[in-house]
Formats: sequence, C-alpha cells, structure tokens
Amino acid sequence: MKHLLRLGDLSEEEIIDILNLADQLKYEKKHGIPHRHLEGKTLGMIFQKSSTRTRVSFEVGMCELGGNAVVLSVGDLQMGRGEPIQDTARVLSRYLDGIMIRTYDQKDLEDLVQYGSIPIINGLTDYAHPCQVLADLMTIREYKDSFKGLKICFIGDGFNMANSLAFGCLKVGSEFVLASPKEYQIKDSVVEELKPYADRFRMTENVLEAAKDADVLITDVWASLGQESEVQKRRQAFRGYQIDDSVLAVAKKDVMIQHCLPAHREEEITTKIFEDHAKEIFDEAENRIHAQKAVLVKLLGNKN
Ligand code: CP
Repeated sequence: MKHLLRLGDLSEEEIIDILNLADQLKYEKKHGIPHRHLEGKTLGMIFQKSSTRTRVSFEVGMCELGGNAVVLSVGDLQMGRGEPIQDTARVLSRYLDGIMIRTYDQKDLEDLVQYGSIPIINGLTDYAHPCQVLADLMTIREYKDSFKGLKICFIGDGFNMANSLAFGCLKVGSEFVLASPKEYQIKDSVVEELKPYADRFRMTENVLEAAKDADVLITDVWASLGQESEVQKRRQAFRGYQIDDSVLAVAKKDVMIQHCLPAHREEEITTKIFEDHAKEIFDEAENRIHAQKAVLVKLLGNKN
C-alpha cells in the first residue's frame, strides 16, 4: 500500500491489517506506551473544505506518532491563485513526507500521486471518505467482534460515504444495504465495480426493508460538504430517510448506530436516538485518530 485514495484499492487483508494496527495503537495510547513511529516526519494537510474531526485527528495523530503536521488551506496556497496541482505536488514532495488532502474531485488525488513522490491520503472527496470508513469498521468490530454475517444498512445519499462504506463493508465480508431515493443512489459506474459482491449488496428506496434485521444502522447528513445550494431540494427528497423509532423497531434489538458527524438532528436521525446511541457514535469519532494513525504508520513509516 503506497497511498490511501479509496477503499476499492485495498484488499480485505490490507483493511484488516490497518484495523489491527489501529487497535494496537489505541491500546498503547490508553496505557501510556510510547509509539513514536514517525519521528522527524512531516504531513502536509490540504483543505479545500471545512473540517473538525479530520483536521484535529490527523494533526494530533501525527504529534502522538512523534511527527509534525502542517495545515495548508487552499486559500493560503498558490493553488488558490491557479498554480496547477501537478506543480504543487512536485514542490511539496521535496518538503513533506506525506500529504492528506480534502477536496472535491478524486482526480486531484490521482494528479498528486502522478506528479508527486510521497504518499497521498484521501481526507474526503466527492467520491470517497476512506479514513472515516476505516474508523467505522474499527468501531463496528469493537462492538460486534467480527464482520462476517453482519447486515450493515446505510440510510442516506449514495455519495462519498455510501461508496466507501459499500467497498469497506463488502470487502470485510458483511452485507451492505443502501436506502436512498432513486435519484440519489450509488452511481452505475460504482455499482459496476461492486459486482463481485452482488450477493451481499442491495439498494432500495424502502427504508424499513433496508433496516429489517440490521446489525448496524449508519446515516449521514442529507446535504454533504459542497451541496449547500441544494439543501431545500434535498430536504424534500430525503424526507422519511431518517433513523427514527419505526426504523429502530425493525432492526435487531442490539443494533448499533453510527454517524460520521456532524449530525443534523431531526433530519437524518431523531434527537432521542442520537442521544441514546451517543456512546457508539462518539467512540466512532474517537476512532478516527486511531485508524488514521495506523494509516500514517503504514504509509509514512515504511511499514508496508
Ligand atoms: N466526519 C468527518 O469527516 O468530519 P469532519 O468534516 O469534521 O472532518
């Protein structure tokens, strides 16, 4: 593994390997065991969109690993004035040991890989959010022990989170069901790539059918970063695509709830269910740091 661009690029073994290292790093942190694998290494973090969890967890994670992180807002870089990403990649590769980027277009990451010479990590694009889903898988395994035979249901947009969850959940052996309005389901090109897992993957407009006997229910905001101009349209389209009491009633009794945050209470999830399941939701948020530290060690620490 040289980069983390999307979970579709990783094998089941590579995903499990990252999760195992994440568990180990979490244990070491909780027990005060030093794990400074990245002494002298510097990660550049390019942000074209806002962030709380990704920004703080990567910066603190690098610090805990003995390295440094430099935040590079696109507005402060010459990229914001039109310097091509190809040149930015070649320059930053001379200064940094890795780049984490949050941007719109997945192609920006591919350009960084092509023109740069250091590991590139996807901190969210319109296509994928692999760091979030590694944290989700880590949390699911903590609560459910294993992935095989689990039914994982995502209620929401067939966008970056749905794409990454589909690859992540299916590769580790779970069933993955998306409940979404027809026009917001996962794009055909991605569905085509998911064909090897067709026996464990479904999309439906029917929330209750999707949630029936689910072990894990996951949701996300109806309008993601960059879709702010569509908020009203999406509120109409996604009405009813909510984790509420009727959805909880058809899921398994011990169902766990995940939300990548930030949450819009009373839109994609009721306030009561969010608060009743806050422990597992904020465990998931915490696990961002452990999962990403594992990715950083694998990519920047020569632990391939
Ligand atoms: N879930 C997530 O990526 O959070 P941020 O947008 O705060 O980084």
